[in-house]
Amino acid sequence: MLRFGEHPKKTDLPLHQDFKPKKKTVAEKRRLYKVGASVLAVIIILFLWLKPGSNDESSSTIQDETFINTQDSEVKIYDITADGIQDVSETGVPKESEKEALDIEYYDLIDYQGNPQSKANGDKVLLCVPLRDAEKVLPLLFRNMMNMTYYHNLIDIAFLVSDCSKGDRTMEKLTEYSIAMQQGKLLELLDGEKSALKAKGMKGSSDLYLHYLPEDYVNNVKAAYSPPYHEEYTKPFRSVQIYQKDFGQVIGQGFSDRHDVKVQGIRRKLMGRARNWLITSALKPYHSWVYWRDADIETSPGDILENLMRFSSSYDVIVPNVWRPLPTFLGDKQPYDLNSWIESEEGLKLAQTLDEDDVIVEGYAQYPTWRVHLAYIRSDEGDKDEVVELDGVGGVSILSKAKVFRQGSNFPAFTFLNHAETEAFGKLTKKMGFKIAGLPHYTIWHIYEPSEDDLLEISRLERKKRRYRND
Ligand SMILES: *[C@@H]1O[C@H](CO)[C@@H](O)[C@H](O)[C@H]1NC(C)=O
Repeated sequence: MLRFGEHPKKTDLPLHQDFKPKKKTVAEKRRLYKVGASVLAVIIILFLWLKPGSNDESSSTIQDETFINTQDSEVKIYDITADGIQDVSETGVPKESEKEALDIEYYDLIDYQGNPQSKANGDKVLLCVPLRDAEKVLPLLFRNMMNMTYYHNLIDIAFLVSDCSKGDRTMEKLTEYSIAMQQGKLLELLDGEKSALKAKGMKGSSDLYLHYLPEDYVNNVKAAYSPPYHEEYTKPFRSVQIYQKDFGQVIGQGFSDRHDVKVQGIRRKLMGRARNWLITSALKPYHSWVYWRDADIETSPGDILENLMRFSSSYDVIVPNVWRPLPTFLGDKQPYDLNSWIESEEGLKLAQTLDEDDVIVEGYAQYPTWRVHLAYIRSDEGDKDEVVELDGVGGVSILSKAKVFRQGSNFPAFTFLNHAETEAFGKLTKKMGFKIAGLPHYTIWHIYEPSEDDLLEISRLERKKRRYRND
């Protein structure tokens, strides 16, 4: 079935009309070949961006968004290979790519639609991962990526590193892990780091909360991070790119600030801007799929891509359910992502009472929407193949046909139908005639980060245990 805007016929689509071709080469095939040849280049593109004025820390009050720097500046390009890092900003494009740029590439977009047979067809996936102060969760993220059974040489990874705090080493670790992964040495590296930590006795108290998580959950995690691993596990990905660009932060450090509903709206718009920037920079005509994934997921089925794709004859965007474990004294587990929902009469009525620019945020008393949240209709025994149609989606894990973005949908960085970012992406995508699916009983698990209160309760319980033992 064709939608407006897709290429209707098997005609060639010249992308670089200015160049006279000497030969018609499909540069893409060549690239695939290169990956297979196992000499792996991680290309790091650093879009260095002039920092906004130093006033954003001090004036942490919420203003409108006009102070956000919308200007891009100098572009830095680094090639990372097994031999190290190469700055190619001065010489411009590397020689090899220069040659490729002279070739004309033809794409008939009808071939890049995405369908349930994508894996067998060799359809390529763009994996987009936004990161901020993510140093700690990078090992989880990489283990989850390695665990993907979709052929790694069909996946291009695009990381976006933005607005990290001083002293955070997301960029360094990301580079290190990316190179190791592409060399097939990441598993050793991560295992090595883990045993080094253990030897230093660093586990101990910081992981105390593990004793309070449900036993079956903890065992499941242990198994998920232990051998045997499947064949694809240590294979390099088709490419890895790292984009670095700051988008500014609107949020002051105060707790109340962070939770104010208005701040949430502005925060979501900034995140929308970051996502849009990443996808516009990284999406290529040969991508059939885009998979958005947050870094702080603990476990997720290895075949999540293939599985979500199974629903693509009827749906264009597909999301799993996202839960997180809880200490047993808090009830074992909990819905995590409340942004995937089915619109309600009450929600629509509520929107009519709001200003055009107001953003409805789920989970706040100010905005009683009475919507059905994907997270709340999950059951342990539920049919994993059950599907519900959604209106809003959360950003933790979104599989989307690439054509959804190609045809102009995005993560609105302004208020659209009283929503922003991923929820507005849902509304916008649906308005454009696409269909969105949520799988209520197919679950991925977000990490549990103990709150201050939880930590207090845990140390109280620990003291009690010790007293009991001493008696
Ligand atoms: C890896 O995939 C397996 C099989 O789907 C799954 O059971 C396991 O939890 C996954 N591991 C991680 C770290 O998510």
